[in-house]
Amino acid sequence: MINDERPNRLPDSLPADPMHWADAWLKEAISTRVRRNPDAMTVVSVSSDGQPSARLVLCRKFVPDPGYLVFHTNYQSKKCLDFENNPRAAAVFHWDTLGRQIRIEGLIVKSPREESDSYFANRDKGSQLGAWGSDQSYPIQSKDKLIRQIRDRGISMGLSLREGTTQFTEAPASTIKRPPHWGGLRLWANAIELWIEGRDRIHDRGRWSRNIMPASETEFTVTPWSGTRLQP
Ligand SMILES: Cc1cc2nc3c(=O)[nH]c(=O)nc-3n(C[C@H](O)[C@H](O)[C@H](O)COP(=O)(O)O)c2cc1C
Repeated sequence: MINDERPNRLPDSLPADPMHWADAWLKEAISTRVRRNPDAMTVVSVSSDGQPSARLVLCRKFVPDPGYLVFHTNYQSKKCLDFENNPRAAAVFHWDTLGRQIRIEGLIVKSPREESDSYFANRDKGSQLGAWGSDQSYPIQSKDKLIRQIRDRGISMGLSLREGTTQFTEAPASTIKRPPHWGGLRLWANAIELWIEGRDRIHDRGRWSRNIMPASETEFTVTPWSGTRLQP
């Protein structure tokens, strides 16, 4: 059901700051706990032979100005192999009960190391161990083997785990450092679409684009957004 209290259209004159609108929509989805994982988004990568693939990840940071979002992953995963060949990516958020969709396209770069370190340091210990223990996207014979692999790696790092499990016997005394193969990715937006669900499928769509030029390993300089209304 669409919430009729919410405006079902964008302003007649499209706003000049679509990333701020997207940020407000994401914040509303999170603050109203619109669903479990309100920050989940589908991210698409394209392999060297042109095959797109999509998966859900969690958007942990949204920076409307200058305009990028951040998610975290294993740098040796399938998606990252794709991004190394082709940094172009697309992301989609959809909140059914809010009647809103956001589509973002752009370029992927790794987050600065310190940013990944500080995000990793605040993860729970189980997730930290998991980042060391799983070779994301690579085959393994069984779930039991995976658990053994995570345990073995944890124990070799000096962690104390309950027999046969990946659970800690007690909170680890020392900090678990971020694995070099795990960290943040920034998706710098060069296109964004805001979509609002309307009655009888008369939805409202605004699409904006801009140029982004590399300024450093993690930053881009950007031109102003230019927006167009699209038919649904
Ligand atoms: C709700 C949800 C959230 C997820 N969040 C992440 C995430 O933030 N980072 C991540 O690497 N994988 C996340 N995953 C797992 C991915 O969907 C995917 O299985 C994994 O990243 C491997 O993808 P790849 O082999 O295409 O690289 C999530 C899955 C779900 C269902």
